[in-house]
Amino acid sequence: MEARRENRELTDIELTENALAVLRKRYLKKNDRGEPVERPVDMFRRVAGNIAEAELKFRDGEEGRALYEEYYGRFLQMMLSRRFMPNSPTLMNAGRELQQLSACFVLPVEDSIDGIYDTLKHQAIIHKSGGGTGFAFSRLRPKNDIVQSTMGVSSGPVSFMAIYDASTDKIKQGGTRRGANMGILRVDHPDIEEFVTCKNDNDQITNFNISVAITDAFMEAVEKDGEFELVNPRNGAVTRRVRARELFKKIAYGAWLNGEPGVVFIDRINADNPTPQFPIESTNPCSEAHLPPYDSCNLGSINLSLFYSEEAGDVDWEELRETVRTAVRFLDNVIEQNNYPLPQIEEMSKGNRRIGLGVMGFADLLIKMGIPYDSEEGLAFAERVMRFIDEEAWEASRALAAERGVFAHYEGSRHEARGDRVRNATVTTIAPTGTISLIAGCSGGIEPLYAVAFMRRQADMEMPDVNPEFVRVARERGFYSEELMKKVAEQGSVRGLEEVPEDVRRVWVTSHDISPEWHVRMQAAFQKHTSMGISKTINLPNEATVEDVERAYRLAYSLGCKGIAVYRDGSREEQVLSTGKTA
Ligand code: CDP
Repeated sequence: MEARRENRELTDIELTENALAVLRKRYLKKNDRGEPVERPVDMFRRVAGNIAEAELKFRDGEEGRALYEEYYGRFLQMMLSRRFMPNSPTLMNAGRELQQLSACFVLPVEDSIDGIYDTLKHQAIIHKSGGGTGFAFSRLRPKNDIVQSTMGVSSGPVSFMAIYDASTDKIKQGGTRRGANMGILRVDHPDIEEFVTCKNDNDQITNFNISVAITDAFMEAVEKDGEFELVNPRNGAVTRRVRARELFKKIAYGAWLNGEPGVVFIDRINADNPTPQFPIESTNPCSEAHLPPYDSCNLGSINLSLFYSEEAGDVDWEELRETVRTAVRFLDNVIEQNNYPLPQIEEMSKGNRRIGLGVMGFADLLIKMGIPYDSEEGLAFAERVMRFIDEEAWEASRALAAERGVFAHYEGSRHEARGDRVRNATVTTIAPTGTISLIAGCSGGIEPLYAVAFMRRQADMEMPDVNPEFVRVARERGFYSEELMKKVAEQGSVRGLEEVPEDVRRVWVTSHDISPEWHVRMQAAFQKHTSMGISKTINLPNEATVEDVERAYRLAYSLGCKGIAVYRDGSREEQVLSTGKTA
């Protein structure tokens, strides 16, 4: 209680140098000369004020005013204490002219020139406003298929994706970041082989992450080593039969080569789609948000690293509960305050009211708890934390429904079928938190530490930059030395360093020290208690084989994951979106 009261009075935010640099460069309001005209604390005030304004839309007069004041304070404290951060577009745009607050959108791609080019224009509008876009090209007729009106032939999904890619190059998101896209094709589309190899060359379609939408029927055919039919979406005709395992291997080979394509298990995503009246065919660029066409999602993440109570030797569950509830209200308010780039998007987003509350700093919290990431205890802890967050988030959504009503598309939803009156179709999603974890100064999403320390060039000198918590532990346990810190920085991890006590080595594991199987199992643990998807990279060592990738895919499928993205060490110099701190 004491700590909480203290936090309520924060008047500024503690930021690392890197966080400050990123805020200055891309987030703070600037004048015509490009100089920031707000301080970080002003940015958080701007955001808290703008998002709290939604309170005035639901309650009039005194009551509305009081709610505004209360939530302005709570939202501000939650951000200044770095316990919660909304996704980047909210930080950048709330309370400013643009007012576009969402990170993720999905657009339809109809099988017609009008449809394809309308969506191209809509993609540009969304990128300009700072959002990322996802598309499924599965409804497009295959390459060389007939075009009635011209008696010509179609150039196929991959060629249209290349047009979307080229257009992306020309539009910088809100002037602040390059546009990101997700391109998806169903595994039973006749052009699937062209699609899965279209990024084998690293210079192609660089503004897209690509994923194959894998069906249950395909996985069954892989298991049975059977044949699988490719179907023309225009007329339902079977164009070809392929050996499922061969196609599976091609997909895995691309992922082995350079991380592309990923896969999403589309039937499973639809089986859990809370609004089945709007089927899902694609995801956002980092694949954590499963959205029907024209839907959007606002993300926000809780910084778990700050919820360790030393006194209790456990998570401060009460504090976490309060933060989750306030965060859900914040994200529901974002839906009201948002300026939507298209009327169709406004209708769908307000109809479904999808929000995606996630976490970051999970690895930091594990370390404080003394639990290794790659352990049964680690998995159990992950489930415990995420179940708690998910349940509390649903509670908050129920309370909001009582106060403000259920979401407009409630009728026909799975929530209606269960008689569960909630305000939001979804509540939880785990985003990569590429930039906001840097701002909050914690480990990204649910990823393990990328490194315990690394060498940084500063004033022409190579200096070790060591995780401050590790420095603290090293001093406390009496094994600190500058020489050792340099050694850790050179190899990134503490693996095999005898100078570091064994129990410390066990807890301070990095993504490279962890086997693919444990990465997948951790993703599956979080997925059990998450409404939408999980952004996670399954790290493979450089010497991993294509079969290792196949094994990881099968494991992800068997453990109930909604998709999987692997990255083999050293297989690609640059990624469209990297989940690491270097993003
Ligand atoms: O940390 P931040 O809020 O900036 O973003 P993130 O958690 O790394 O990414 C969340 C989502 O934002 C991604 O899945 C994309 O949909 C979108 N995004 C984007 O469109 N362009 C970027 N450069 C980064 C993220």
